[in-house]
Amino acid sequence: MTQTLPRAVPALFPSAAERGRVEAWLTEQLQGAISRVQAGPVTPTIDMPRFREELEAMNFDHPRPLEEMLRWSIERLEHGIVQMSNPRYYGLFNPGANFPAQCADRIAGAFNPQLASSASSPVPVALENHLICAVARRAGMAAHATGHFATGGSEANYTSLLCALTAAHPAFASEGARAFPGAPRFYTSRDCHIAWLKIAHQTGVGRSALRLIDTDGRGRMDPAALARAIASDRAAGAVPVMVVATAGTTGGGMIDPLHACADIASQEKLWYHVDAAWGGSALASDRLRGLLSGIERADSVTIDAHKWLATTMGCALFITARGALLSEAFHASTSFMPSSVASVDPYLNSVQWSRRFMGLRLFLALASAGWSGLGAHVERAVAVIARVREKLEALGWTVANSSELAVLDVVPPGSTDVRALVRRVVSSGRAWVAPTIFEGRDVVRICATNGETSDSDVEELIAALRGAAC
Ligand SMILES: Cc1ncc(COP(=O)(O)O)c(C=O)c1O
Repeated sequence: MTQTLPRAVPALFPSAAERGRVEAWLTEQLQGAISRVQAGPVTPTIDMPRFREELEAMNFDHPRPLEEMLRWSIERLEHGIVQMSNPRYYGLFNPGANFPAQCADRIAGAFNPQLASSASSPVPVALENHLICAVARRAGMAAHATGHFATGGSEANYTSLLCALTAAHPAFASEGARAFPGAPRFYTSRDCHIAWLKIAHQTGVGRSALRLIDTDGRGRMDPAALARAIASDRAAGAVPVMVVATAGTTGGGMIDPLHACADIASQEKLWYHVDAAWGGSALASDRLRGLLSGIERADSVTIDAHKWLATTMGCALFITARGALLSEAFHASTSFMPSSVASVDPYLNSVQWSRRFMGLRLFLALASAGWSGLGAHVERAVAVIARVREKLEALGWTVANSSELAVLDVVPPGSTDVRALVRRVVSSGRAWVAPTIFEGRDVVRICATNGETSDSDVEELIAALRGAAC
């Protein structure tokens, strides 16, 4: 007689009643932890040597109750990370996650759809596609523009270089960089996000393929220097393939001259990519979107919803007006996939194969807030930075950048060592800011990343900066 199968492992697949009970408890625990985090220090307070010892003692031989481990995980995160959900985090482009996106993660986690193929996930694939088209339209790109969700700006930017190389030589797909009669080159400003170096490495063209172009004294790529670099590379036998303009530089929030860069790319017949990983979110605002004029001329665009639109990580959009290139760069054939439609199936049009339902994070945020709500969120960040600027200028600080977005680079009065000042602010736990270099000068970089920063959070930042500057 056939024996019945063993029952599902209860620690992994508890009963529905048990799940419901634990979920309700977890929600309550998380709410408590996040409200403590919002009122507490921004920086980690955990004793790391002790934590490492604790980890060493965990050999996973003896299972522990899930609830105990959930409590343990929340407690360790409450004390063991820089807190993005703290409204005094004025840091890198990492947001306190919006609530609709957190709900999306819960839904995606429960259903765990496989977004590699349109046959496995017809609804999620169509929904993501609809969202990509909506953002492309908002950017003013061609009606046929297409794309996909990526894990982050780095993956989306990597995709752009693969497309540019594929467009530049029909044999790149089979021969790689060897196909080119000279060394391939691509161009972006020296204030770009430096992951471009890793991207050059990943695509096989080598890090020396990246040409970092001088800026114009205001943190924006200098178009004349760009044109000169392309001409001198061509004269030396190299093969230019792509121009990348940054819309919202990481250090200074500056926007490269998008039309001038588009003109040069078009004259030189090069792929034109706009890395709008952070600044692209300004498209949500009717007041600010004009700052991105010229983005509509791009062959491809990167926008990270997990930056300024505050979705959970990672949730980037890669959008291209040249969808056929995506299908060419990522084509593959196999008999085991449930569908293989070249222009539709995500696994045939992107770096990833198995893929999470990332788009639901932006979908729920956009559907529930509308463009007006996302626009108000973006404009609020600009208002936070305007307030910080006004207060610091009144105290004699100098503003180094001239971003119309939500990054402020400032220098304290006198001869204070900026890096030491930032270290003092961060170690106080009162606020989190970063040191960076803008146009050759050490500056304190302050970015509004948290959607709930209040007047008193701005006061606390100013007090922390003043205290550290003494
Ligand atoms: C302009 C720009 N591009 C690309 C990236 C990389 O994005 P991600 O961290 O999502 O990979 C960043 C990250 O801050 C960025 O600021």
